[in-house]
Amino acid sequence: MSFGEGEEGVGIISPDVERVVSQGSLVQSPQRVIPVQPANAALAELYTMIGLKKVKELAGELEAFINVQRHRETYNLKNAPMVLHMVFKGNPGTGKTTVARLFGKLFNSLQVLPKGHIIEVERADLVGEYIGHTAQKTREKINKAMGGVLFIDEAYSLARGGEKDFGKEAVDTLVKAMEDYKNEFILILAGYTAPMDEFLRLNPGLKSRFPIQIHFPDYSVKELLDIGQLMLDERQYRLTNRALNKLGEIIDQYSNMPYNDFSNARLIRNLLETAIRRHAVRLRYVSHPTRDQLQTLESCDFLSGASNEYSLYGNLR
Ligand SMILES: Nc1ncnc2c1ncn2[C@@H]1O[C@H](COP(=O)(O)OP(=O)(O)OP(=O)(O)O)[C@@H](O)[C@H]1O
Ligand SMILES: [Mg+2]
Repeated sequence: MSFGEGEEGVGIISPDVERVVSQGSLVQSPQRVIPVQPANAALAELYTMIGLKKVKELAGELEAFINVQRHRETYNLKNAPMVLHMVFKGNPGTGKTTVARLFGKLFNSLQVLPKGHIIEVERADLVGEYIGHTAQKTREKINKAMGGVLFIDEAYSLARGGEKDFGKEAVDTLVKAMEDYKNEFILILAGYTAPMDEFLRLNPGLKSRFPIQIHFPDYSVKELLDIGQLMLDERQYRLTNRALNKLGEIIDQYSNMPYNDFSNARLIRNLLETAIRRHAVRLRYVSHPTRDQLQTLESCDFLSGASNEYSLYGNLR
C-alpha cells in the first residue's frame, strides 16, 4: 500500500470549480486531509490498490468534505451544492472501472447515494435506431442507475456520427437527467484523454456539469509488478525470483512497443493467467504435486514476449 508514506495533503474541493486532477496540478495544502487508516471500507479498499496517488487523494478529500458538510448541517450552516459527476481519463487497464465501482460504494457508505451500485454502459446501450428510440434507451439506463453510478465507457463515441447521429440525442437526454435528478445519481464518463477532451470541448453544456476530472496515468513497470503481486496473493500463487525478473522483462517489452494499446493492469492479469495455465500443464504429469509446487510459478511458465509474436501482438493485449 503506497498510501500514507510521505504523501502530501490536498486542497479542499470546491465543487463549482472545474478541477483537473492530474500530475502536478493539484492544489497543495500544508495539512494532511486523508486519514492513514481509513475507517471507511471502500476507501480502505481503494488504498490497497497500487499507485493512483491522485485518485486516493481526491477520494480522501471528498470523504472529508462530505463529513464536514454533515457536521455543518447539524449547525444549520449553508452547504455548497455537491456536484459529484466525474470524468475519468486514461488508457486501458489503468483502473477506471474499478475506481468507479469503489466510488459508488464510497458514496453509498457516506450516504450520498442510497444504493451505490454501478450501471456500466457504452454507446450501443444508449443509442437507438430511430427518432425517440435513443431517448428511451438512455432514460432506461438512467433509471437503472438511480441511487448509484451511471458509468459510460468511451463516452466520446456518443459524438461519433456528427450532427445527424442519434448519439447527440443521448447526450441531450443525459444533460437533462443531470438537471432533473441532480442528487439522485452520479454520472461518470470514462475514456482516452485526447478524444475525451475533444468531446467535452464540443459539448460545453456537458463539460461544465463535470466539476471533477481525474487523469489515470499509465503504470510504471514497478507498479505493474506490484499489481501482479496483489493478483497472485489473491489467487494464492507466488513467483520465483527468476519468474519475477522474466515478468519484469516481458512488461518492459510490451511497454516499449510501437503500439498505443498497452493495457496496463489488464496486461498483467492476462500474463499471469496465461502463466497459471502453463503451470497447470507443467504439473499435469506430476502425480503428487507438493503444496509448494502447486503455488509456485517459474520463469518457464511465462511466455517470452520476443519469442512469441502471436501472444505479443494478438491475444494478450
Ligand atoms: N492500481 C491498481 N491496483 C490493483 N489492481 C488494479 C489497479 N488498476 C487496475 N487494476 C486491476 O486491473 C484490471 C483492469 O482494471 P480496470 O478494468 O479498472 O481498468 P480500466 O481503466 O477500466 O480499463 P478499460 O479502459 O480497458 O476499460 C482489474 O482487474 C483491476 O482490478
Ligand atoms: Mg473499464
